[in-house]
Amino acid sequence: MAEQSAALLKAEGVYKYFGAITALRDVNFHVASGEVLGVVGDNGAGKSTLMKILSGLYAPSEGTLIFDGRPVHFGSPRDARNMGIEMVYQDFALAGNLPIYENIYLGREPGRRLGGLTIIDRRLARKMAAEHLDRLKIHVKSVDQPVEELSGGQRQAVAIARATAFDAKVVIMDEPTAALAIKEVGKVLDLIKSLKHHGVAVIIISHRMDDIFYACDRVMALYQGTNFAESPLAATTRNEVIGWIMGTKGHTDSLAHDKVH
Ligand SMILES: Nc1ncnc2c1ncn2[C@@H]1O[C@H](COP(=O)(O)OP(=O)(O)OP(=O)(O)O)[C@@H](O)[C@H]1O
Ligand SMILES: [Mg+2]
Repeated sequence: MAEQSAALLKAEGVYKYFGAITALRDVNFHVASGEVLGVVGDNGAGKSTLMKILSGLYAPSEGTLIFDGRPVHFGSPRDARNMGIEMVYQDFALAGNLPIYENIYLGREPGRRLGGLTIIDRRLARKMAAEHLDRLKIHVKSVDQPVEELSGGQRQAVAIARATAFDAKVVIMDEPTAALAIKEVGKVLDLIKSLKHHGVAVIIISHRMDDIFYACDRVMALYQGTNFAESPLAATTRNEVIGWIMGTKGHTDSLAHDKVH
């Protein structure tokens, strides 16, 4: 499959055990640059566990990760990040009391080394943050605004800006719109599309079919820790995907007229 050979990040035969629980069972996964992949599945299906493996938080119990054609072993999220794989967590993991620009660079601020210390260049950090937000068409009053003053959608946007500030190649988002008001959802989804147009591989976990069908190129469904089904969006329907989440396949002929493009 052409898609497969162009995969930037792949997982082959991944298992993850938590004590007696098998959270993932022989899972295969791939995503390409410039592709938005939706990952769906019921609660406990293994979605977050798979993403935590892809972003270096967990090691797989068995199986292989392949990045850019080479097997990789991530000892920590930092290892994955160094390769350009970033995860935006469900709770955004932002520091509410700090200004936007500091959240974007948290721990990776531009500056110069002086002895064992890094002297942070705040003017440069502000300028770089403002330029980066501009590139992503994220509008904030000022990069000096503390994150706790922002709406849910703006916070999500800052979390995405943080994830993409260092030339990310893969951005993984766990439920990026779950906590947002409806009017903020569209902006975040458009931001996801703009990452795609910058060539980033984007993976979104979502329970919302509207998000999946608006933003994704392809959808994969996990069911009880296994690959259940996957399809380009243009070749499936909402009802079919909802069926996959519940562990059913087929019987969709009568729904063929419901096809969504
Ligand atoms: N750190 C952990 N320790 C023990 N069990 C875990 C851990 N993380 C996940 N699990 C278990 O692994 C399975 C998959 O969980 P996971 O969080 O990946 O599901 P999910 O698809 O993300 O679900 P949700 O939609 O509810 O977020 C569940 O049975 C869960 O209880
Ligand atoms: Mg989850």
